[in-house]
Amino acid sequence: MAYTPVVKLLRDAQPGEEVSVAGWVRTRRDSKNGFSFVELNDGSCMSSLQVVIDGQVPGYEEHIREATTGASLIASGTVQESPGKGQRIELHAASFEVPGTADAETYPLQKKRHSFEFLREIAHLRPRTNTFGAIMRVRNAASRAIHEFFQQRGFLYINTPIITTSDCEGAGEMFTVTTLDLEQLAKKPTEVDFTQDFFGRRASLTVSGQLEAEVFATSLGSCYTFGPTFRAENSNTTRHLAEFWMVEPEMPFCNLDDNMRLAEEFIRTVTKDVLENCREDLEFFNLRIDKTVLEVLENIVSHDFIRVPYTEAIELLEASGKTWEFPVEWGKDLQSEHERWLTEEHFKQPIILFDYPRTIKPFYMRCNDDGRTVRAMDVLVPRIGEIIGGSQREERLDILTERLHECQLDPEEYWWYLDLRRYGTVPHSGFGLGFERFVQLLTGMVNIRDCIPFARTPRNADF
Ligand code: 4AD
Ligand code: MG
Repeated sequence: MAYTPVVKLLRDAQPGEEVSVAGWVRTRRDSKNGFSFVELNDGSCMSSLQVVIDGQVPGYEEHIREATTGASLIASGTVQESPGKGQRIELHAASFEVPGTADAETYPLQKKRHSFEFLREIAHLRPRTNTFGAIMRVRNAASRAIHEFFQQRGFLYINTPIITTSDCEGAGEMFTVTTLDLEQLAKKPTEVDFTQDFFGRRASLTVSGQLEAEVFATSLGSCYTFGPTFRAENSNTTRHLAEFWMVEPEMPFCNLDDNMRLAEEFIRTVTKDVLENCREDLEFFNLRIDKTVLEVLENIVSHDFIRVPYTEAIELLEASGKTWEFPVEWGKDLQSEHERWLTEEHFKQPIILFDYPRTIKPFYMRCNDDGRTVRAMDVLVPRIGEIIGGSQREERLDILTERLHECQLDPEEYWWYLDLRRYGTVPHSGFGLGFERFVQLLTGMVNIRDCIPFARTPRNADF
């Protein structure tokens, strides 16, 4: 590619350098003296490059009018110091070309503020806006920092299957994958015979790579997954997607304390990396989206997370004097309002709740001796609530089998998972980070649908 990214030009280019750039026109201003200023954005950074196109440039008369907002533009010329405010350099074009025009009547992204709701309807064009460009660059920087975090610590990156026959969370929120002829089936109201289906049994999209990650952690050592997961929960909230990406580390010979320590170090390290590498974008979010973004992130990086047993959190919530939409009671799951009160108002920083009631947690979590709690942990952060869910895993074959029965799951179906306890079992732990919730935290975006390129939610799978 012969074109220099704008991010590189704005940082390094010196007056006199000859360069070519390519991108999309944000705005064009024609001066009365027969030349034009084009704000060119190529997505490599928030800032646009000012391209000055003089009337003498070949093709000016015929083509400059084609360079409207949204049109693509290639320009070559000389870098010059910019007399204008807010920019170090500009490009004086010696030639330019408009490979694709954009009809000003119909191009939906004219220069004005658009609502996020409207932008979701044009998800194929929204990456051309400042906000979505910044979100996607932050998302990219976060993924890279996540891989770096685990790679530096010797964790093996494992690709777990997307199609599976086991429901890891046991919540029955799985999307069925089938090649059965649904139209034929609908005509005969009989029970569906999954033995006739592609896999010879009912298969689904995975809700978590954890069970398979445990296989590798108990043979090759610490590992992690980073892949798409799917949940058919019918929740239309600002924190739920039907398709989201999850980061799931799994560590052998580790207990819940080690797990909490890793989760904290993980969030703080990755947040610090993004703060360092995406300064311009984060400052934009802090200015335009949420005035507390930088403060919240800096607070995360500079403070130890507070660890609170679930039972104590319930006592704090009961003593808060607040009226809750969902009642607080020992044995009930915490709702977003409770989580947010704890992390935003009470502790005013990230916290880790642990030792949850066994009745509200999945079968695989290690049972405590009290008979009523399990070694579960959730990391809660301001504005989001739960961002990580994890646990120490039940490594004792007899207790795990008992738990499967208790959760009304068939141990036969989990034979291979139980084998890991039958042969060389070890204490082990892991957690899952919801990647889009993390992007929400980093950017201050209110709605998780704006933190993934194409959101899948109930009644919506366009694009
Ligand atoms: O707490 P969850 O359900 O935990 C697991 O899936 C474990 N198997 C993880 C593990 O121990 N390996 O989900 C983990 C995280 C949540 O804390 C949340 O951040 C995110 O995944 N999450 C969602 N994000 C977006 N949309 C949804 N519908 C989500 N459901 C969970
Ligand atoms: Mg959870």
